[in-house]
Amino acid sequence: MPIAEVEKIWMDGELVGWAEAKVHVLSHALHYGSGVFEGIRAYETPRGPAVWHLDEHLKRLFRSAKLYHLEIPFSREALTEAVKETIAANGLSACYIRPLAFRGYGEMGVNPLNAPVNVVVAVWPWGAYLGEDALEQGVRIKISSWKRNDQNSLPAAAKATGQYINSVLAKVESLKAGYDEAIMLNQQGFVTDGSGENVFVVRNGELFTPPTQAGCLDGITRNTVMTLARDLGYSVREENLVRTDLYNADEAFFTGTAAEITPIREVDDRIVGEGHRGPVTKELQGVFFSATKGEVEKYTCWLSYVN
Ligand SMILES: Cc1ncc(COP(=O)(O)O)c(C=O)c1O
Repeated sequence: MPIAEVEKIWMDGELVGWAEAKVHVLSHALHYGSGVFEGIRAYETPRGPAVWHLDEHLKRLFRSAKLYHLEIPFSREALTEAVKETIAANGLSACYIRPLAFRGYGEMGVNPLNAPVNVVVAVWPWGAYLGEDALEQGVRIKISSWKRNDQNSLPAAAKATGQYINSVLAKVESLKAGYDEAIMLNQQGFVTDGSGENVFVVRNGELFTPPTQAGCLDGITRNTVMTLARDLGYSVREENLVRTDLYNADEAFFTGTAAEITPIREVDDRIVGEGHRGPVTKELQGVFFSATKGEVEKYTCWLSYVN
């Protein structure tokens, strides 16, 4: 997906021009994947742009950093301001936000501890991750032949740059086979998540999603959707799922900051439910998108207004 360039990027404490936000080719993270990052969205509201779950995302960034002994040289408060400042400086009403803390230039070798840490916050306009049509029509997915990183090899609790090479393998396999997205199983054969999304199924009016212990990311949209569904009166269970639970579901959908709530219409060439967005998925999308626009009073606490 080409990036829609904007004016400024926040880099190590100051706003620099988009084209000036550069790193050295011998930066540690480029060679060893030693960075941690977040994906956040800001939505347009009547009170101007507002960042969705900003605190939760920045808390997860710091948890990811802790797992890799990476000390972010800015406080959470400073990064909160950096995110707002970058959106405002680029005059965006809605955007995707990418904070990244990575081991920079100065040391080579696997030991990262003496390498400096750089921090950037980039923002750009980004529409529906799996395509505008996908939000209504749903996507076709493939269960990947690549297993999800085992939790004792790479921690699922961390959103670290190097870990995503596992997602890249699964994503490319699914695209080359003619699907839109992949879902990975863990070493025990239980469903984990997509290459960048959590997974839910609906069966007999109940929602099911894999527990984080299965090895999926502790997704912020996953948590949001569990809250929204329970508030709508649905039962939501965090339970291990096998691939046939996806084939035989009444409905299935992805959740993620980028993917928002995207219906899954086919898994491994089996049509899921009616083969299009189901009623529960549609209801959840409705309340989700209203909440992101600041239209649902009880969920406005999830928005951080930029101005
Ligand atoms: C592997 C993976 N699973 C799930 C998600 C969804 O997480 P969130 O809802 O916090 O964006 C993401 C996106 O960050 C991801 O990369």
